Amino acid sequence: MKQTEFKKRRKHLMQRIGKDNIALIASASVRTRNRDVDYPFRQDSDFYYLTGFNEPDALAVFIPGREQGEYILFCREFDEKKALWEGAHAGLEGATKHYAADDSFPIDDVDEILSGMLENKHKVFYPMGRDSDLDHRLQEWIRHIRDKSRSGVQAPAEMASIEPILHEMRLFKSSEELKLMRRAAEITAQAHIKAMQNCRAGQFEYQIEADIIHHFMSEGLRAVAYPSIVAGGKNACTLHYTENNDKLKNGDLLLIDAGAECDHYAADITRTFPISGKFTEPQAQLYQLVLDAQFAAIEHVKPNVPWNAAHDASVEVMTKGLVKLGLLKGNVKKLIKAEKYKQFYMHRIGHWLGMDVHDVGDYKIHQEWRLLQAGMVLTIEPGLYIPENCKTVDKKWRGIGIRIEDDVLVTKDGHEILTANAPKTIVEIEALMSA
Ligand code: GLY
Ligand code: MN
Ligand code: MN
Repeated sequence: MKQTEFKKRRKHLMQRIGKDNIALIASASVRTRNRDVDYPFRQDSDFYYLTGFNEPDALAVFIPGREQGEYILFCREFDEKKALWEGAHAGLEGATKHYAADDSFPIDDVDEILSGMLENKHKVFYPMGRDSDLDHRLQEWIRHIRDKSRSGVQAPAEMASIEPILHEMRLFKSSEELKLMRRAAEITAQAHIKAMQNCRAGQFEYQIEADIIHHFMSEGLRAVAYPSIVAGGKNACTLHYTENNDKLKNGDLLLIDAGAECDHYAADITRTFPISGKFTEPQAQLYQLVLDAQFAAIEHVKPNVPWNAAHDASVEVMTKGLVKLGLLKGNVKKLIKAEKYKQFYMHRIGHWLGMDVHDVGDYKIHQEWRLLQAGMVLTIEPGLYIPENCKTVDKKWRGIGIRIEDDVLVTKDGHEILTANAPKTIVEIEALMSA
């Protein structure tokens, strides 16, 4: 991502904060996995969105109108020894030179310096209640200023969450962001195709998971956006199954929900296909129903349509289909009202997608489902999950779990499916698997 993009975002944020106010946002921290071993570091999405700075132990400060510079980055000082053991880090000089901070200070001096910056500011914007360490330190800094009130300095009078401003910005993707999302989507689609081509009965779920990650990594995408779900047969009925340690059986379906991350932007694809390469009749009937629900939902992804319309469309198709196949009995309208479909379709149609797989952004505004607008990206992922012990349905349906998930961009006059290259019709899947 180009520095100009981060600059544009900071400028926009600064305008929204307004003069006399200040905003703070902290980096993620390194977390210990076990003795001397850390979890892979993943920068905080909000922090990265504004800074492009990929190090822990950093704090970004935004002070609109500050003469010596509006964007201040507190970070680790350059340390030869650290560089030897852990590799490059920007240091104070790098923060201004390569990350366009107007000013940089050692993170170790933050207590002394930041109190001064908060003096006589009216309102402090920060991610309230997200990081108890930052919550606590901010209170300490403010207490420190209050203690000096007799010398005439004023402590901030208001605290506000930065999230409504920042997350509304993140909800609308720029063309630079879409480049990264398209790449994540394309590489992820290829990995799903490979899984369909190479899957054989007798393999273990983790072997398919390994193939998927292998593809992501060989394309330079080193992180998954979330733990991959590779669920054979009835395992697909556990919505967030990630054990991935069962053997694949002929005659079962395989549900794969996996997505790569490209420079902090996620893809999120689910495909479900027969391990043998050919759907059985009951599998094909349920699969086609989920696919029809997905097609119906995607039609509602266009500007000025409420967020919920896609979900409602999927519920209607699902309920009608479940009645037709005999899994539900009764009047479709009444069944929808009583939410009987929830026995088999218990989650919502999807979520915003971006730097976080379940991305930020409000779904309702003043208690009403918001209208879709160009630049938003969301998933459309209806599913049917028939528990193995479900006595109310014919045996042939039991233990089948199906989800079909695509990533969809709202465009000026409709939508674009970013993940369209991953096959999903029965004909396409069977043709690919028999080739
Ligand atoms: N992979 C998580 C989800 O589909 O929401
Ligand atoms: Mn999803
Ligand atoms: Mn998913």
